[in-house]
Amino acid sequence: MKFHIMTLFPETIQKCLDYSILKRARDNNLIDINTINIRDYTTNKHLKVDDYPYGGGAGMVMQAQPVVDAYKSISENGSKKLRVIYMTPWGNTFNQNMAKDFSNEEELVFLCGHYEGIDERALEMIVTDYVSIGDYVLTGGEMPAVIMIDAISRLVPGVLGNEESAVNESFSDNLLEHPQYTRPAVFEGREVPNVLLSGDHKKIEEYKREVSIKRTMKFRPDLLKKAQLTEKEKKFLQNL
Ligand code: 6GU
Repeated sequence: MKFHIMTLFPETIQKCLDYSILKRARDNNLIDINTINIRDYTTNKHLKVDDYPYGGGAGMVMQAQPVVDAYKSISENGSKKLRVIYMTPWGNTFNQNMAKDFSNEEELVFLCGHYEGIDERALEMIVTDYVSIGDYVLTGGEMPAVIMIDAISRLVPGVLGNEESAVNESFSDNLLEHPQYTRPAVFEGREVPNVLLSGDHKKIEEYKREVSIKRTMKFRPDLLKKAQLTEKEKKFLQNL
């Protein structure tokens, strides 16, 4: 899967996606992180990419020309219409379903704005998806793009070592992941739940589901409405 990121800070993106699982995925050519420096495309002789907003107001606005020309440099090389995601606090809030949807594409373009944003005409010309990562304001779209690329990449087949680990995880079934334990069996007097040491796989699965339900009830009761529970699990939930 190929990610193109249009940004004024390409080193930031490259550094943030060059360790651990995503580094291995890049080394194995499962994902490709192509950064495009928007400043390389400005026709301004002082390499300016922004200007004052028409109508006044605080800050600077990124100009349309370098953004649209940077996009053309990507789209020229291919025949198909690429999805272009603009990172903005007023976009649709990113979630696991969106990550899943984006992971089905072969190529994606991320557009990272800075300052007070980008000239609306450039957005109208090239953007297909407007995405936010949550209800708070950041200084630019680079960190949100890195977060989205992380979430999308781990859904690309082969990126996670054990294919299982993307199945039984938080949000996969509108339930949060169960707690995890490893050796030793007793740490500073605290014991691992006994059932996990029992070797009884049916009991263990039942237990994991129950603690997932409990955790979801505590932290994200809103998710439970959409979770598929058995009759037994519904009773368990009522008795919490
Ligand atoms: Cl995608 N961009 C910026 N600048 N701020 C944000 C955001 C994105 N999502 C939440 N806050």
